[in-house]
Amino acid sequence: MENKTVYLNGDYLPLNEAKISVMDRGFLFGDGIYEVIPSYSGHLFRFQEHMERLENSLTIIRLTNPHTREQWLKILTPLLDSSLDQYIYLQITRGVAPKRDHAFPENIPPTVFAMCSNIAPLDNRDSGVKAISVDDSRWELCNVKATTLLANILLRQQAVEQGCAEAILVKDGYVTEGAASNVFAVIDGILMTPPQSHEILPGITRDVILEIAQQNNILCREEIISLDALKTASEIWIASSTREIVPVVELDSEKVSDGKPGPVWQTMNRLFQAYKKSLS
Ligand code: PDD
Repeated sequence: MENKTVYLNGDYLPLNEAKISVMDRGFLFGDGIYEVIPSYSGHLFRFQEHMERLENSLTIIRLTNPHTREQWLKILTPLLDSSLDQYIYLQITRGVAPKRDHAFPENIPPTVFAMCSNIAPLDNRDSGVKAISVDDSRWELCNVKATTLLANILLRQQAVEQGCAEAILVKDGYVTEGAASNVFAVIDGILMTPPQSHEILPGITRDVILEIAQQNNILCREEIISLDALKTASEIWIASSTREIVPVVELDSEKVSDGKPGPVWQTMNRLFQAYKKSLS
């Protein structure tokens, strides 16, 4: 295990010295939320938007934000290496309670943990990946970036065991998102992505793609996508902070179009990379 410096409850310390109690509610219940924030050339990407989502997650789980945005920036910046593409993993749990009780403990400080890792794009990102569609077995608060990820883990593992990079989740016949990504599809020449709701995470990469599409006259709609419609798509992509925009070239063992990344992805990926560069 790489012994990098991490942040835990006010201290910077080597990863192997960062310890929490077994009574931490994050450990016992998965009672916490997290963020994943990319950093390019030492600049946190879309920091304000990530903070807004963090605040929203905290509000929904009824946990007070322990820091202001300015304080968060001060805490996270020393973890970054400006020569690398990286991401911050930031987690806040409801803290260490005296006993295991589902109900909230009173007057307990939250546990705050953050670490930085290098972004390693998928080896085959530019040639595309395979995906499967599976029933979305998750809960009703998918807009919260909760550490409680058991359903997502089981769904992603199902994909991995079938030689696929992602599970595309389907609820009542409609696509929601990937196990750890948002989904885009080009259908009848229009770029589509499911609308925001409690059934999906409001992805920051998703927002950037929508903005780039608008600014570059790429026809784009936030609209529900049935699995049947997805199967007719000329392009399918998955998008996240750590993987960026990845073309899906095979869905449920069937090729998407000719089984190669499509022209809209080529354009979007070029624009996305240029946008990233323009910020550094
Ligand atoms: N996950 N939907 C889900 C369920 C996700 O877990 C993620 C990202 C996204 C994309 O969101 P963003 O573009 O803000 O990264 C959508 C992160 C990377 C993770 O859990 O590691």
